[in-house]
Amino acid sequence: MTPGPTNVSTEVMQAMLHPIINHRGPAFAAAMDSLLIKAKNTFQTKGDVVVLTSSGTGAVEASITNLLRDGDSVLVTAFGEFGERLADQIQDVGATAIRVESEYGNTPTLDNVREAFEQNEELKALYVVSNETSTGASIKWLKEAGDLASKAGAFFVVDAISNFGGDWMPVDEYKIDICCAGSQKCLASPPGVSMLSISEKAKQFIVNNPPKRHYLNLPRYFKYAEKNETPFTPALPLYFALDRSLEIILDEGLDRVIERHAICANAFYSGLSEMGLKMFAKTEVRSNTVIAINYPEGVNDKEFRAKLDADYGVILAGGFGRYLGKLFRIGSMGVVGRYHVIATLTAIGMTLKKMGFEANVDGALSLSSSILSKLSRSA
Ligand SMILES: Cc1ncc(COP(=O)(O)O)c(C=O)c1O
Repeated sequence: MTPGPTNVSTEVMQAMLHPIINHRGPAFAAAMDSLLIKAKNTFQTKGDVVVLTSSGTGAVEASITNLLRDGDSVLVTAFGEFGERLADQIQDVGATAIRVESEYGNTPTLDNVREAFEQNEELKALYVVSNETSTGASIKWLKEAGDLASKAGAFFVVDAISNFGGDWMPVDEYKIDICCAGSQKCLASPPGVSMLSISEKAKQFIVNNPPKRHYLNLPRYFKYAEKNETPFTPALPLYFALDRSLEIILDEGLDRVIERHAICANAFYSGLSEMGLKMFAKTEVRSNTVIAINYPEGVNDKEFRAKLDADYGVILAGGFGRYLGKLFRIGSMGVVGRYHVIATLTAIGMTLKKMGFEANVDGALSLSSSILSKLSRSA
């Protein structure tokens, strides 16, 4: 139950047993065509989607190295570890990252972004981490940010690695020029591939201003996509797995998958609060995919998570940086349903009790169960 890699179904694992085929032959072109159709449906886009043999960081890096140049200025939301990393990656290409900040556990507001657009001229782009995996806070004004960026003539780029497939992300409707997704989170696929959706506007810019890069060179990807190929050898088993994962998501229905994430997150938040725990993120901004919880006084992080694993086989993540040892995080992503929520809550409550914290486990389970009753029978 970590915020990635998440549980992968047997069906998706089995998809990787597909024979290793020639990636310059017709079988791969057919497979790629089918994968891209599913990917575009998941991004809800008529634009391009590029699948990279890289983890999510590669997709984020491609969104930076292909769009930005030395001397550009961009806005970047910074309200956690991943926002800070994004700002650093932007600075690495010589661009100036103007941070729109908030304290951790909260997010900047849309007004903060509006003011930053008013105070700074000639902004090339707005970069947003839609879901801060380190704090469990997520941006609730993506659509409005798309309008702001487009009015300002800036590109809108979203690192949606930890909530793509768990939150509503119609990239064309939200005017997102580049959206980055990772395979190993809500898409419930193995780690190692990532995807970028690219708007026509961003594509034109990138093609007309090709970056001096070899591997993460998006114009090459566009050129090879014309024959349903990738410029370099793709991680074939991971492409087959991703194809199956997307098929499972689209079969369930994107709206139902997103509703399931929202119901499971709600069941987690309600159950954990009923147990007597305090959430790290503010209620208004809390994430539907990453649940961050403050440790109660006296509970040691390493001991708690080791016991949870040894006694119940439940694996959770700890805190990052300055929150190391202060909070723990649950990934409520991908293959998540009633079983995962109830088993995880039970394990957390029983472990806390053993460690001296009087968790109200019965109350938590009964409240969460009533919320989970909104799920379809199979979830
Ligand atoms: C919001 C966010 N951005 C970027 C990344 C980096 O992704 P990866 O570890 O797949 O390179 C992560 C990983 O957890 C993330 O949560």
